[in-house]
Amino acid sequence: MDLLKAILWRRSIRRYKPEPVEQEKILELLKAAVWAPSAGNTQSWRFWVVKKPELKLELSRACNGQSHVREASHVILVGFNEDEARRAYGNRGVTLFAIQDTAAAIQNLILRATDLGLGTCWVGSFDEYKTRELLELPRNIKPVALVTVGYPAEKPESRRKDIKEVVRFTDDQTFI
Ligand SMILES: Cc1cc2nc3c(=O)[nH]c(=O)nc-3n(C[C@H](O)[C@H](O)[C@H](O)COP(=O)(O)O)c2cc1C
Repeated sequence: MDLLKAILWRRSIRRYKPEPVEQEKILELLKAAVWAPSAGNTQSWRFWVVKKPELKLELSRACNGQSHVREASHVILVGFNEDEARRAYGNRGVTLFAIQDTAAAIQNLILRATDLGLGTCWVGSFDEYKTRELLELPRNIKPVALVTVGYPAEKPESRRKDIKEVVRFTDDQTFI
């Protein structure tokens, strides 16, 4: 799919068809994710891929009961290795850069999913403690977000603020 078309077509999908997503496609998403830029090429991101229904159900509970977390074919937790991030850039590496790096990886992942005809939803509302326990995350891993992945069963509307509301040109250029 053309890049702009994918950007405009993508929506947060919260209803999925029951068909599982093929493993090759999940790998394609992860390959796109790790080609995101990262500060100093640190690549401290880490991914946990969940497919087991029982674990998705537990994760859904850890996400305030969000039903798409259990109904999606896969749930991918994206986090980062705090030791690597700190080693590279100290506190700024952990509090700022690694968050941006993982966000860039997530955006790559969800756009590639759109390209492959898959639906995704970026999930930031989760109980960190419960999620850590369920996935047995090592202590040096900071979870940033979960992404639900599956074949979409809806095409929701979405809207954006007018670009004039959010952009300021600092010289005399104006919107045409
Ligand atoms: C950091 C972040 C956290 C989000 N957390 C959730 C979430 O917990 N649950 C959810 O259903 N959607 C979540 N979303 C999706 C947003 O609600 C969605 O992107 C926004 O409403 C715009 O809709 P669109 O993605 O369809 O354009 C999150 C998105 C981001 C970027």
